[in-house]
Amino acid sequence: MTTVKRIPPLELTTAEMQQAVDLAMKEIIAHIESLPEQPAFDTEGGEELARSLVESPPEEGQPYTELLDLLFGKLVHKTFNTAGPGYLAYIPGGGLFQSAVADLIAGSVNRYVGVWAAAPGLVQLETNVIRWFCQMVGYPEGALGVLTSGGSLANFTAVVTARRRLLPDDFLNGTLYASDQIHHSVAKAAMLAGFPAENLRLVASDDRQRIRVDSLAQKISEDRASGVTPFLIVGSAGTVNTGAVDDLTALATLARSEGLWLHLDGAYGGFFALTERGRRALAGLEQADSITLDPHKGLFLPYGTGCLLVRDRAALREAHHIEADYMPRMQDDPDLVDFCELSPELSRDFRGLRVWLPLKMHGLGTFRAALDEKLDLARWAATELAKIDQIEIVAEPELSIVASAGARRGGPTTRWMG
Ligand SMILES: Cc1ncc(COP(=O)(O)O)c(C=O)c1O
Repeated sequence: MTTVKRIPPLELTTAEMQQAVDLAMKEIIAHIESLPEQPAFDTEGGEELARSLVESPPEEGQPYTELLDLLFGKLVHKTFNTAGPGYLAYIPGGGLFQSAVADLIAGSVNRYVGVWAAAPGLVQLETNVIRWFCQMVGYPEGALGVLTSGGSLANFTAVVTARRRLLPDDFLNGTLYASDQIHHSVAKAAMLAGFPAENLRLVASDDRQRIRVDSLAQKISEDRASGVTPFLIVGSAGTVNTGAVDDLTALATLARSEGLWLHLDGAYGGFFALTERGRRALAGLEQADSITLDPHKGLFLPYGTGCLLVRDRAALREAHHIEADYMPRMQDDPDLVDFCELSPELSRDFRGLRVWLPLKMHGLGTFRAALDEKLDLARWAATELAKIDQIEIVAEPELSIVASAGARRGGPTTRWMG
């Protein structure tokens, strides 16, 4: 008689599932409620800590409670507390808890959203989110987009889409343009899209850190005369350095007259389009061919939530379309979306739920009010800082970043009031 070896089950019982969530929840609530008291950052001893964690792959399991203790007792606090009120550096992620609940649901039901046919209703929720964003920026009906893991991947997808729309397969003659204030993810995107570093032309910015459109036009014309093929301008809808917004209307006019693709990096600034002041600052946003947004910045959602919007959805699809026998038929109806046709990803997490749930629970109005408050806070902070002799305001806040320099320290320090 053959005996079948009993393997320990990977699935949890009902009671174990409940307990796993309850125990984690207790820690999570204690963590979130103590955020205001936690220091803005505490990474002292980080190297020793990291080294102490190096281990070989575990052959045997360890009790869940010990693992929770490790996380919440030892690791979670040895970090930047980006959601705490004392954290003013870089562009912090709020990380709304509602999205964490959405992630738990999405991971637990684990439905496949890479193709429409596999989960029509769930795909529609994510499509709704993208369409809401399209409406927010003022895009027309034919626009669409895709949720990415962040702004870097959105910028990358934009560069590839522009390249595939405007350049031949042999594309190394193509040149890209951005200001010297552009986020480095754009240079990385160009590099990963196959362009040599010198194909990205960095144009000087003016005294308000905005791209000099006259210099840009001149550079494009010189490049054309020298036989290269300009194809893409990347403008900033809020720079990481000072929050500067390029003259988006002038960029759109230039891009149109030159037949170039205009991509706007609104990873930081784009969601201010929800507010009246933001819309004024971002005038011309809707004329771009594509726009990067980062819900994990401007909508306070957890890290891992970016977005690319494209004015002509066909360009995004053409850039990513590929066929295989084992794939289900892709949708031709413009109302029905296959995400695998719009990005490099096939399998993907159901990240749309992480955006949809808080937006539905609170409505855009609540987010608009929160963003308006950030604009007020930045204005207030700049006014108060300007009263201090030793501090120089390097750039008046256009959005929520306050860029100031301390007299003793010299260099500018950028601050996001979040
Ligand atoms: C203007 C801008 N663009 C792009 C990025 C890159 O976004 P992510 O970190 O989500 O990849 C950032 C990040 O701070 C940014 O501020």
